[in-house]
Amino acid sequence: MNKEEFYKLLEARRSIRKFKKDPVSKDLIEKIIGAGMQAPSGKNRQNWRFFVVTGAKRDEYLKYSQKSWLGIKDVLAARLKPSLYDFTERFFFTLGDAPVVIFAYSHNDAEERYHTSIGSVYMAVENMNLACFVEGLGCCTMGAPLEIKAEVDQFLGVDKLPEYQRGELELLCALVVGYPDHSPPKAMRQIEGRITWLE
Ligand SMILES: Cc1cc2nc3c(=O)[nH]c(=O)nc-3n(C[C@H](O)[C@H](O)[C@H](O)COP(=O)(O)O)c2cc1C
Repeated sequence: MNKEEFYKLLEARRSIRKFKKDPVSKDLIEKIIGAGMQAPSGKNRQNWRFFVVTGAKRDEYLKYSQKSWLGIKDVLAARLKPSLYDFTERFFFTLGDAPVVIFAYSHNDAEERYHTSIGSVYMAVENMNLACFVEGLGCCTMGAPLEIKAEVDQFLGVDKLPEYQRGELELLCALVVGYPDHSPPKAMRQIEGRITWLE
Protein backbone atom coordinates (compact mmCIF):
# COMPACT_ATOMS: atom_id res chain seq x y z
CA MET A 1 0.00 0.00 0.00
CA ASN A 2 1.42 3.43 -0.87
CA LYS A 3 1.05 6.63 1.16
CA GLU A 4 -1.97 7.91 -0.78
CA GLU A 5 -3.77 4.59 -0.38
CA PHE A 6 -3.18 4.67 3.36
CA TYR A 7 -4.75 8.13 3.75
CA LYS A 8 -7.59 7.18 1.40
CA LEU A 9 -8.29 4.14 3.55
CA LEU A 10 -8.64 6.30 6.67
CA GLU A 11 -10.96 8.65 4.84
CA ALA A 12 -13.06 5.93 3.27
CA ARG A 13 -13.80 4.00 6.47
CA ARG A 14 -17.16 4.76 7.94
CA SER A 15 -19.49 3.25 10.49
CA ILE A 16 -21.88 0.70 8.99
CA ARG A 17 -25.31 0.19 10.55
CA LYS A 18 -27.05 -2.07 7.99
CA PHE A 19 -25.72 -5.52 7.19
CA LYS A 20 -26.40 -8.56 5.05
CA LYS A 21 -27.41 -11.60 7.07
CA ASP A 22 -24.48 -13.62 5.66
CA PRO A 23 -22.35 -15.14 8.42
CA VAL A 24 -18.74 -14.10 8.90
CA SER A 25 -16.26 -16.96 9.26
CA LYS A 26 -14.53 -17.56 12.56
CA ASP A 27 -11.16 -17.30 10.78
CA LEU A 28 -12.01 -13.85 9.51
CA ILE A 29 -13.17 -12.67 12.94
CA GLU A 30 -9.93 -13.97 14.41
CA LYS A 31 -8.01 -12.09 11.71
CA ILE A 32 -9.85 -8.86 12.63
CA ILE A 33 -9.12 -9.35 16.32
CA GLY A 34 -5.51 -10.22 15.41
CA ALA A 35 -5.28 -6.82 13.68
CA GLY A 36 -6.59 -5.26 16.90
CA MET A 37 -3.87 -6.98 18.86
CA GLN A 38 -1.18 -5.36 16.69
CA ALA A 39 -2.03 -2.05 18.39
CA PRO A 40 0.35 -0.40 20.82
CA SER A 41 -0.54 -0.64 24.51
CA GLY A 42 0.77 0.98 27.67
CA LYS A 43 3.77 -1.04 28.96
CA ASN A 44 2.85 -3.55 26.24
CA ARG A 45 0.36 -5.06 28.68
CA GLN A 46 -2.02 -5.94 25.80
CA ASN A 47 -4.79 -5.43 28.30
CA TRP A 48 -7.59 -5.82 25.74
CA ARG A 49 -10.02 -8.67 26.23
CA PHE A 50 -12.57 -9.62 23.57
CA PHE A 51 -15.82 -11.57 23.84
CA VAL A 52 -17.30 -12.64 20.51
CA VAL A 53 -21.06 -13.18 20.32
CA THR A 54 -22.72 -14.93 17.36
CA GLY A 55 -25.72 -17.20 16.61
CA ALA A 56 -28.45 -17.63 19.24
CA LYS A 57 -26.43 -15.65 21.78
CA ARG A 58 -26.32 -12.71 19.37
CA ASP A 59 -30.11 -12.95 18.95
CA GLU A 60 -30.48 -12.97 22.72
CA TYR A 61 -28.41 -9.76 22.89
CA LEU A 62 -31.03 -7.86 20.87
CA LYS A 63 -33.18 -7.28 23.93
CA TYR A 64 -30.18 -5.76 25.71
CA SER A 65 -29.42 -3.56 22.72
CA GLN A 66 -33.04 -2.38 22.78
CA LYS A 67 -32.70 -1.54 26.45
CA SER A 68 -29.48 0.41 25.85
CA TRP A 69 -31.42 2.56 23.38
CA LEU A 70 -33.56 3.89 26.23
CA GLY A 71 -30.49 5.47 27.81
CA ILE A 72 -29.48 7.25 24.61
CA LYS A 73 -32.61 8.12 22.70
CA ASP A 74 -33.34 11.48 24.34
CA VAL A 75 -29.88 12.83 23.54
CA LEU A 76 -30.17 11.64 19.94
CA ALA A 77 -33.71 13.02 19.56
CA ALA A 78 -32.24 16.46 20.20
CA ARG A 79 -29.25 15.94 17.87
CA LEU A 80 -30.52 13.99 14.86
CA LYS A 81 -33.04 14.84 12.17
CA PRO A 82 -36.15 12.60 12.42
CA SER A 83 -35.25 10.23 9.55
CA LEU A 84 -31.79 9.57 11.01
CA TYR A 85 -33.28 9.17 14.49
CA ASP A 86 -35.68 6.50 13.15
CA PHE A 87 -32.84 4.73 11.32
CA THR A 88 -30.71 4.72 14.48
CA GLU A 89 -33.61 3.40 16.57
CA ARG A 90 -34.06 0.54 14.08
CA PHE A 91 -30.34 -0.13 14.25
CA PHE A 92 -30.51 -0.54 18.03
CA PHE A 93 -33.52 -2.84 17.74
CA THR A 94 -32.02 -5.10 15.06
CA LEU A 95 -28.28 -4.37 15.19
CA GLY A 96 -28.77 -3.78 11.47
CA ASP A 97 -28.92 -7.61 11.11
CA ALA A 98 -25.20 -7.88 11.88
CA PRO A 99 -24.29 -11.51 12.67
CA VAL A 100 -21.39 -10.75 15.01
CA VAL A 101 -20.93 -8.55 18.07
CA ILE A 102 -17.50 -8.25 19.65
CA PHE A 103 -17.38 -6.80 23.14
CA ALA A 104 -14.13 -5.07 24.06
CA TYR A 105 -13.05 -4.98 27.69
CA SER A 106 -10.05 -3.49 29.41
CA HIS A 107 -8.17 -5.39 32.08
CA ASN A 108 -7.17 -2.55 34.40
CA ASP A 109 -4.74 -3.14 37.23
CA ALA A 110 -2.32 -1.28 39.48
CA GLU A 111 0.56 -1.74 37.00
CA GLU A 112 -0.80 0.91 34.65
CA ARG A 113 -2.70 4.17 34.90
CA TYR A 114 -6.40 3.87 34.29
CA HIS A 115 -6.62 6.09 31.21
CA THR A 116 -3.60 4.44 29.61
CA SER A 117 -5.29 1.07 29.95
CA ILE A 118 -8.52 2.36 28.45
CA GLY A 119 -6.71 4.14 25.60
CA SER A 120 -4.78 1.01 24.70
CA VAL A 121 -7.99 -0.94 24.13
CA TYR A 122 -9.45 1.79 21.95
CA MET A 123 -6.30 1.72 19.80
CA ALA A 124 -7.01 -1.96 19.18
CA VAL A 125 -10.63 -1.12 18.40
CA GLU A 126 -9.60 1.35 15.70
CA ASN A 127 -7.29 -1.24 14.14
CA MET A 128 -10.27 -3.58 14.05
CA ASN A 129 -12.45 -0.94 12.37
CA LEU A 130 -9.81 -0.56 9.65
CA ALA A 131 -9.24 -4.31 9.29
CA CYS A 132 -12.99 -4.78 8.79
CA PHE A 133 -12.92 -2.18 6.06
CA VAL A 134 -10.05 -3.74 4.11
CA GLU A 135 -11.68 -7.18 4.44
CA GLY A 136 -14.92 -5.89 2.88
CA LEU A 137 -16.73 -6.07 6.21
CA GLY A 138 -18.72 -3.30 7.86
CA CYS A 139 -18.32 -2.34 11.47
CA CYS A 140 -19.87 0.05 13.97
CA THR A 141 -18.23 0.74 17.31
CA MET A 142 -20.92 1.17 19.96
CA GLY A 143 -20.62 2.84 23.33
CA ALA A 144 -24.32 2.17 23.92
CA PRO A 145 -23.79 -1.08 25.88
CA LEU A 146 -22.26 1.09 28.61
CA GLU A 147 -25.82 2.23 29.37
CA ILE A 148 -26.46 -1.26 30.74
CA LYS A 149 -22.91 -2.23 31.66
CA ALA A 150 -23.65 -4.56 34.60
CA GLU A 151 -26.31 -6.42 32.62
CA VAL A 152 -23.92 -6.95 29.70
CA ASP A 153 -21.25 -8.24 32.10
CA GLN A 154 -23.76 -10.82 33.36
CA PHE A 155 -25.04 -11.66 29.88
CA LEU A 156 -21.49 -12.52 28.80
CA GLY A 157 -20.64 -14.32 32.05
CA VAL A 158 -17.77 -11.88 32.56
CA ASP A 159 -18.98 -11.25 36.12
CA LYS A 160 -17.87 -14.79 37.03
CA LEU A 161 -14.21 -14.15 36.17
CA PRO A 162 -11.79 -13.59 39.09
CA GLU A 163 -10.32 -10.43 37.52
CA TYR A 164 -13.84 -9.00 37.22
CA GLN A 165 -14.53 -9.83 40.84
CA ARG A 166 -11.32 -8.00 41.75
CA GLY A 167 -12.78 -4.95 39.97
CA GLU A 168 -10.24 -5.08 37.13
CA LEU A 169 -12.31 -5.92 34.07
CA GLU A 170 -14.28 -3.10 32.45
CA LEU A 171 -16.54 -3.07 29.40
CA LEU A 172 -15.60 -0.28 26.95
CA CYS A 173 -17.61 -0.85 23.80
CA ALA A 174 -19.08 -3.33 21.34
CA LEU A 175 -18.19 -3.71 17.67
CA VAL A 176 -21.07 -4.78 15.49
CA VAL A 177 -19.64 -6.62 12.48
CA GLY A 178 -20.99 -8.09 9.23
CA TYR A 179 -21.04 -7.64 5.46
CA PRO A 180 -22.29 -4.12 4.66
CA ASP A 181 -25.68 -3.60 3.09
CA HIS A 182 -25.56 0.17 2.69
CA SER A 183 -23.07 2.80 1.78
CA PRO A 184 -23.62 5.78 4.07
CA PRO A 185 -22.26 9.23 3.30
CA LYS A 186 -19.09 10.35 5.03
CA ALA A 187 -19.68 11.97 8.40
CA MET A 188 -17.91 15.29 7.98
CA ARG A 189 -14.83 16.14 10.01
CA GLN A 190 -14.20 19.51 11.63
CA ILE A 191 -10.73 20.92 12.13
CA GLU A 192 -11.75 24.19 13.73
CA GLY A 193 -10.85 24.36 17.41
CA ARG A 194 -9.34 20.88 17.40
CA ILE A 195 -5.65 21.81 17.12
CA THR A 196 -3.61 24.32 19.10
CA TRP A 197 -0.07 25.10 17.97
CA LEU A 198 2.45 26.39 20.50
CA GLU A 199 5.70 27.77 19.09
C1 LIG B 1 -16.32 5.06 21.26
C2 LIG B 1 -17.41 5.14 20.22
C3 LIG B 1 -18.72 4.88 20.58
C4 LIG B 1 -19.73 4.90 19.61
N1 LIG B 1 -21.01 4.55 19.96
C5 LIG B 1 -21.96 4.45 19.01
C6 LIG B 1 -23.25 3.94 19.34
O1 LIG B 1 -23.53 3.59 20.50
N2 LIG B 1 -24.17 3.84 18.36
C7 LIG B 1 -23.89 4.20 17.07
O2 LIG B 1 -24.77 4.09 16.22
N3 LIG B 1 -22.66 4.67 16.71
C8 LIG B 1 -21.69 4.78 17.65
N4 LIG B 1 -20.43 5.21 17.31
C9 LIG B 1 -20.12 5.56 15.91
C10 LIG B 1 -20.04 7.08 15.72
O3 LIG B 1 -21.35 7.60 15.72
C11 LIG B 1 -19.31 7.37 14.38
O4 LIG B 1 -17.99 6.89 14.47
C12 LIG B 1 -19.28 8.87 14.08
O5 LIG B 1 -20.56 9.36 13.87
C13 LIG B 1 -18.42 9.18 12.85
O6 LIG B 1 -18.87 8.42 11.74
P1 LIG B 1 -17.92 7.42 10.95
O7 LIG B 1 -17.49 6.35 11.90
O8 LIG B 1 -18.78 6.87 9.83
O9 LIG B 1 -16.75 8.18 10.44
C14 LIG B 1 -19.41 5.23 18.26
C15 LIG B 1 -18.07 5.51 17.92
C16 LIG B 1 -17.09 5.47 18.88
C17 LIG B 1 -15.65 5.74 18.48
